[in-house]
Amino acid sequence: MQNNIMKKENEIALLVGLDLGSAGEDFERSMDELALLADTAGAKVVDRMVQNRNNPDKTYYIGKGKVEELAALARMHDADLIIFNEELSPSQIRNLDKMIGIKVIDRTALILDIFARRALSKEGKHQVELAQLHYLLPRLIGLGNQLSRLGGGIGTRGPGETQLEVDRRVIRKRISDLKKEIMLLRKHRSLHRQRRKRNQCHVISLVGYTNAGKSTLLNSLTGADLYTENKLFATLDPTVRRGTLSGGQEALYTDTVGFIEKLPKQLVTAFQATLEEIAAADILLHVVDMSHNDHLRQIRVVREHLVKIDPDYYMREIIVFNKIDLADEDVDKLYLAREFPNSLFISALEKKGLEELKEKIVAFIREQRSTIHVYLPYSEGKLLSQLQEQGEIESIEYQTDYLKISATVNADLARKLQNYLQP
Ligand code: GTP
Repeated sequence: MQNNIMKKENEIALLVGLDLGSAGEDFERSMDELALLADTAGAKVVDRMVQNRNNPDKTYYIGKGKVEELAALARMHDADLIIFNEELSPSQIRNLDKMIGIKVIDRTALILDIFARRALSKEGKHQVELAQLHYLLPRLIGLGNQLSRLGGGIGTRGPGETQLEVDRRVIRKRISDLKKEIMLLRKHRSLHRQRRKRNQCHVISLVGYTNAGKSTLLNSLTGADLYTENKLFATLDPTVRRGTLSGGQEALYTDTVGFIEKLPKQLVTAFQATLEEIAAADILLHVVDMSHNDHLRQIRVVREHLVKIDPDYYMREIIVFNKIDLADEDVDKLYLAREFPNSLFISALEKKGLEELKEKIVAFIREQRSTIHVYLPYSEGKLLSQLQEQGEIESIEYQTDYLKISATVNADLARKLQNYLQP
């Protein structure tokens, strides 16, 4: 954005939510999460306003009378910013802006803003900028006042300390340039991944709700020195680190972005890098902050995201209940262990339970591998090279029409070879 209005260190913010009645306790939690997101973005939240309604208002999202109340509340607090807990339509933002006269953003813009400042890799930055521009484009029409007020603050910051462009023609050109560059970067990453597979390393991805302790666990498992912080989305880009398992086997650990409820749809593509790491992993360590009073819901949210990437996700999942040092006495560990049989309890920070975790990973890998005997036609050259790269071939006989092979392979390869099993 090309203007010079300085942003304040801490913008003073009000939060607004619409309680539609059906969400109950979940509504409160989602407002608390919004407060945490605002704090992560650097805002100082001074008040909240909630309206109970059956449906959102088409023009203002909240009722018109409530908008007037909100404007008065904003004046009273001398607020810089109002943040709504849902994604608003472009016209709702415009109408609210006209009525209230201070910057209005929604949950989506807030999350995009956080990501914009957290992205480190070139691809991550490009992806987030693309998501921001897609969000911004339909919202530019008629945003005269708002644009001058938006300058520099939360909701308009681009990756790095750049500001977002607001000229529609320039935005369209930028979108198409970004798409091209991202394609190239993805190709590079895919080559890296193939190389890793060829080197037969086990790939273990850490997944989980934001702030669950993934980066801390990666640091503890590999001695890496990753940035961790008690804020949401400290990690955006996938990080890969080499480590060992019990027995000295090598493994590659990848840290991935944290999930959250109501993840903006614009960000789903921005998650591409992370999603591809998850899809390529042999094992997914689903890290859960068991000291969080809402950890069961967080598990559900993460699983919902992951099942969309891979319907067989559960086959590769180990649940790692983290922060056991902080957990309440009355958290029912027996219940959790029963409910999530493939799980264990650790403290990544205090390095407790890490050896058990490594043993569990090794056992899991062993379980996933099986010995198979196949008659493989010579025409299946691709499968043969996969067998040579990823499996351990115990014997191979060259017959007239096929190869007679015995090999130990992982579950994925076993599935691919199913049609050629020896009777
Ligand atoms: P995102 O990048 O937001 O997805 O977070 P993350 O899951 O990578 O979490 P991170 O490792 O950044 O940790 C979040 C906070 O929890 C940090 O303040 C950590 O020090 C803290 N933390 C992580 N593991 C433990 C633990 O076992 N015990 C305690 N007490 N704190 C922990």
